[in-house]
Amino acid sequence: MNRHAALANGYTAYPRSGQGTFSISPHKFQPRSQPALRRRRQLIQRICLIGGVSFFLLILIFPSWRASILPALSLGLLSSSDHLQIQTVRYYDLAKVKGSASGWEDGDRVLMCTPLRDAASHLPMFFSHLRNLTYPHHLIDLAFLVSDSKDQTNEMLENMLEELQRDPDRDMPFGEISVIKKDFGQQVKQDVESRHGFAAQAGRRKLMAQARNWLLSATLRPTHGWVYWRDADVLTAPSTILEDLMRHDKDVIVPNVWRPLPDWLGGEQPYDLNSWQESETALALADTLDEDAVIVEGYAEYATWRPHLAYLRDPYGDPDMEMELDGVGGVSILAKARVFRAGVHFPAFSFEKHAETEGFGKMARRMGFSVVGLPHYTIWHLYEPSVDDLKHMEEMEKERRAREAEEKAEAERAQRTETYFKDPKVESEIDNAFVRDSVEEEEKAKDATPEKSDSTPEKADSKTGKGKYMLDDKHDKKPQPKDDKVKGDADVDTKTEK
Ligand SMILES: *[C@@H]1O[C@H](CO)[C@@H](O)[C@H](O)[C@H]1NC(C)=O
Repeated sequence: MNRHAALANGYTAYPRSGQGTFSISPHKFQPRSQPALRRRRQLIQRICLIGGVSFFLLILIFPSWRASILPALSLGLLSSSDHLQIQTVRYYDLAKVKGSASGWEDGDRVLMCTPLRDAASHLPMFFSHLRNLTYPHHLIDLAFLVSDSKDQTNEMLENMLEELQRDPDRDMPFGEISVIKKDFGQQVKQDVESRHGFAAQAGRRKLMAQARNWLLSATLRPTHGWVYWRDADVLTAPSTILEDLMRHDKDVIVPNVWRPLPDWLGGEQPYDLNSWQESETALALADTLDEDAVIVEGYAEYATWRPHLAYLRDPYGDPDMEMELDGVGGVSILAKARVFRAGVHFPAFSFEKHAETEGFGKMARRMGFSVVGLPHYTIWHLYEPSVDDLKHMEEMEKERRAREAEEKAEAERAQRTETYFKDPKVESEIDNAFVRDSVEEEEKAKDATPEKSDSTPEKADSKTGKGKYMLDDKHDKKPQPKDDKVKGDADVDTKTEK
């Protein structure tokens, strides 16, 4: 069930003139009326016809009238005129929609594509980003693909889109909006191993590729000069991102994508490892693989030693610096529409041993388009703690509470001791007090920190555990770190991680 919604308040990509194209005349086969009445009606019809024809002739004789008169006629007075009759034929000159470097000034329409899967919790943030975009909203057409969602994604999307398009601020509403629903049967099992295990990757990436192709081919119009792919789970991105990327005037361009982490995991981390440059090692590796094999970056199984866009980031580097890429990640891609029109797509098969966005980058490259990344222009992907992270955070919280309780007890004891020493009490009383204290303390400790002793080895684990998020730990055999690293490809699949 596909819904193509052009909400009343939006800006249509086409002149709105289609009304009546398919109208039916319901009175055509009514029983005939009285002959006199009929004759009179025929007379009136004839007069109208003659009037219309002479009017038409006048227009032919005085061409200068046309410009002033025809717009009025298009309101329906004489919609049978030859020039206006065929509303179902549209003419486009694709030479005029080539995607210019200053599209916001040249009126370039942008198709913004967002695949969604169980993304209800991200939608408020995504819409906040949408509203903040500085690129003229009426030049942006939105396209969503909702697939395999079990949460409220569809309903929420509908409501938020209506709200957006009804916004009283005339700069808010976007152009045409397409919401496309299609399930692809992403049926990877829910447990950590199978979802993010190495074996599942190729299949998942191929399905994602199909989803992107469906979305794009259903929504790309001749009016679009640019296509912007943007994931729903981007946390922070400049509101000028479209202009910033467009200004480079490249066929395909991506920013760097990192994600923030809790302090105990190092504060931040490269996220999207799918943007890379080809390496000799990887090419040699590719040669040894099956025709159908798909290399996915970030897995120990394929040590490619490629230069990744993500690792080249310098927070103080020039955000305009460019780096040529072969593979690109899908979190945020700006591409000229002509790239897709020329036939480049997201391969749902092994193209040069790659699929989806990585294959897209390679294919664009192969067809002679420019593909670049900006190592020092960074957007931030949402951090969603993995099950392991959550467990660890719980431990830390327990430890913190235990420590607090301990400190409190310590403070109380110190105060009491002080009081005892101030008072001229006999030694035995003070001794008794210490005995009482230690008994109390033990009880308290039992209440407050039952797991205290258990948590010590965990803590040691967590220290090494931290290492698994470190960047050079690529060849760790544990599935967990790999999961995190390849999350960049997860796109539609990022909900309720692991
Ligand atoms: C959008 O802009 C508002 C106001 O500047 C800001 O508070 C909000 O965080 C922005 N939204 C996003 C998602 O960055």
